[in-house]
Amino acid sequence: MAKAVYLWEMEQILQQIEAYKSEMAAFEATTPDAVEAFRIKYLGTKGLVKSVLGEMKNVPPDQRKEFGQVLNEFKAFAEARYEALQGAAAPISAAANAGIDWSLPADPTEVGTRHPLSIVRGQMVSIFRRLGFAVAEGPEIEDDWHNFGAMNLPEDHPARDMQDTFYIQQNPDWLLRTHTSSVQARVMETQKPPIRVICPGRVYRNETISARAHCFFHQVEGLYIDENVSFADLKQTLYFFVQEMFGKDVKVRFRPSYFPFTEPSAEMDISCQICSGKGCNICKHTGWVEILGSGMVHPKVLENFGIDSTKYTGFAFGMGVERITQLKYQVNDLRLYSQNDMRFLKQFTGAL
Ligand code: DAH
Repeated sequence: MAKAVYLWEMEQILQQIEAYKSEMAAFEATTPDAVEAFRIKYLGTKGLVKSVLGEMKNVPPDQRKEFGQVLNEFKAFAEARYEALQGAAAPISAAANAGIDWSLPADPTEVGTRHPLSIVRGQMVSIFRRLGFAVAEGPEIEDDWHNFGAMNLPEDHPARDMQDTFYIQQNPDWLLRTHTSSVQARVMETQKPPIRVICPGRVYRNETISARAHCFFHQVEGLYIDENVSFADLKQTLYFFVQEMFGKDVKVRFRPSYFPFTEPSAEMDISCQICSGKGCNICKHTGWVEILGSGMVHPKVLENFGIDSTKYTGFAFGMGVERITQLKYQVNDLRLYSQNDMRFLKQFTGAL
């Protein structure tokens, strides 16, 4: 008897479910409000799906499984319909609500640009990397030994003068490195030959800031130590570098020079990239500009690190990133690099 009542009720509920389903299928909603009305009506806490699901408690245990499936399917149908309505209505209605025309192009986003010195340092590093040089870095706050002593700068060398070097007040043995040659020292301290490194980094000198001088700038140092390394290797390496950097037409010349850490020493000039050698104020009307110092590593420097100078030889060089950038991009005032003037910096958009 009781079962018959349930069967009858179930029939009614199943019919009701079908009716709700066709109602939902026909439900149209083009605004978020209408979609929300659908949700409240069918899926809300007091919605129709909940109330039909509530019938479960009246179903006799042996029919629960079958009825449960019907109800689950009904619930899934309502949820799928809700999602479909949401998807269809959202973009149009949100735009209409906010009064936005989504077909208009977006405002341009300000994209940062790389600093010219970073761009050029990257180019320099990648050229030497292709020749097998590894990158080494060292501290900007150095001790006297790594910056000067190990590099064979005698106590009374003018470069040690307070004029050029920033010393750390609390400890006069500490200073801001004046050149990246200090990284050479740190590499030789920890590595055995063969050594082939470049050391890019910032260096400091106590100079009055002007268009031609700054209290900090950037260098790339190179060091190559192995058996049978010769001056010809030095020349060829640097010649390859400038050709990669400035193109095949660049001319080079070496002039004898003096550095305490190399013997013999040479400075390298390249044909002026601004006036192509015709003469301008960058090359002081000579057609040549000096870009680096170099030489064969002084035997004393090798011995300072226990490297046998009868077995090993090496070459080293150091050059300024600002100078290379000046020649590459015709930047003629060193102060521009650190003034953060967007009109200057933005010109390097698109450079690698
Ligand atoms: N350290 C030198 C300077 O700052 C540049 C230099 C010259 C580095 C000759 C070297 C070198 O490694 O061999 O002016």
